[in-house]
Amino acid sequence: MQPELKQQTKCVNAGIGRDQAFGAVVPPLYLSSTYVFPALDEMGVYDYGRSGNPNRDALAQAIADLEGGVGAVVTSSGMAAIDLALNLVPNGGLVLAPHDCYGGTHRLLLARQKQGRFRVEFIDQTTEASRAHIRNKKVDLLFIETPSNPLMRLSDITALSKAAHIQGALVVCDNTFLSPARQKPLSLGADIVVHSTTKFINGHSDVVGGVVVANTDDLAEQLAWWANCTGVTGAPFDSFLTLRGLRTLHARMDVQEANAVILAEFLHAHPLVKRVYYPGLKSDPGYELAARQQSGPGAMLSFELKGTRADVGVFLNQTNIFQLAESLGGTESLICHPASMTHRAMDAEAQAKAGICETLIRLSVGMEHVDDQLAELKTLFSRLEEEGSPT
Ligand SMILES: Cc1ncc(COP(=O)(O)O)c(C=O)c1O
Repeated sequence: MQPELKQQTKCVNAGIGRDQAFGAVVPPLYLSSTYVFPALDEMGVYDYGRSGNPNRDALAQAIADLEGGVGAVVTSSGMAAIDLALNLVPNGGLVLAPHDCYGGTHRLLLARQKQGRFRVEFIDQTTEASRAHIRNKKVDLLFIETPSNPLMRLSDITALSKAAHIQGALVVCDNTFLSPARQKPLSLGADIVVHSTTKFINGHSDVVGGVVVANTDDLAEQLAWWANCTGVTGAPFDSFLTLRGLRTLHARMDVQEANAVILAEFLHAHPLVKRVYYPGLKSDPGYELAARQQSGPGAMLSFELKGTRADVGVFLNQTNIFQLAESLGGTESLICHPASMTHRAMDAEAQAKAGICETLIRLSVGMEHVDDQLAELKTLFSRLEEEGSPT
C-alpha cells in the first residue's frame, strides 16, 4: 500500500498529470459553457457549466482532499461560499457567530436576519461561558472563524464542535486565515469548512473565489444542489488560476509565516505599539491553543498604535512595500485599517463590541525579504515620531 502523501505533496500535485486527451501535465482550461450529449437521454460527465466544469472540479477535489473532506463546492467568492453554507439553516433557525468575525460575514448574517430567513446571535466564542451557552441552546448552525479577522482571537474548534453537536447543530468553520496548510477544522470536529480562496489558497491577489468543503456525502450533495440552483459556482479560469496558486501554498505559507514571527516580535518590543495580536507570540492569549490546534501561527497579525487616528494616517499614508489595501494572503505584503476598511460594514457599536479600535492596524505579511519589511516598519515609526503625536 502506498503511504499517504504529505499535504505539501498533495498541494504541488493538485490536478497534475490527469489529462486524458493529450497527456498535458498541467490541466487544460475548459471554458466551454455547454457540453455535447452523446445521444438523446444520454448525458456525458458534464452538461452545463453552472452545474459542472473540469477545472472547478479539479480545484474542489484538491481542496476537499487537503481539508480531509469528502466533497467540495467551488464558489465565485468567499461570501458566496458562506451564503451557500447558510442555505442549510432551516427557516426561522438560530445561527451563532463570533462577535469579531470578518465584517462582510457580519453584514451577511444581519441582512439574512433582517430578511426573516433566520435569527443570529454574535458571541465571544473564546470562553467556557460561550460553550455552556451553546450547549444549552437549540442552535442550528454554529459559525466559527479562527483565527478571527482582524483580532486573531483563537476559538477552540474541538470544544465548540462538541458543545454544538449536543443539540444537533451544524458546525461551519471559516479557515481562510490559515488554510489547510496550518489548520484542518474537519479533523477537529467541524462539519463544514469555508474559505475565501481569494486569500492564501490562491495566494496571488488576482482571483476572487471561495470554497465550501463538507465532511459527509449528504452535506456535499446538499451544497452542490444549492450551488447549482442559485448559480454561485466559480468560473473555470478562476478555478484554473486558483489551482495553480494552490500548488505553492506550503512554500508561500512557510516564508510568510517566518516573516510574520519576526515582524510580530519587532512590533511587540516597539515603544509606539500598545499591543500586538499574533498567536505566535508567547504573550498572546491564543498561544497555547495555537500550539494544539494549528501547525503554525500563520502570516496575519494586527497591532494597536499608541496615539490617535491622525497618527494612524501618518503611519499608513507613506508605505512603500506594504500596500495600503484590503484583502490578505497574497505574496505581497498588505497593510490595512480594519475600522475604516475591511470592517466598515460593522457599525461603531459592533466594532466596539468586537474590540476593533481606531488605532488598530492589520498586516498580511508577504514574501518580501524580512530585512526589507523590517526596514519599512522602522521608517514608518521614525516618520510617526517626527510628524505625528504618538503618546
Ligand atoms: C475570514 C474571511 N472570510 C470570508 C471573506 C470573504 O471572502 P471574499 O472577499 O472572497 O468574498 C473574507 C474576506 O476578506 C475573510 O477575511
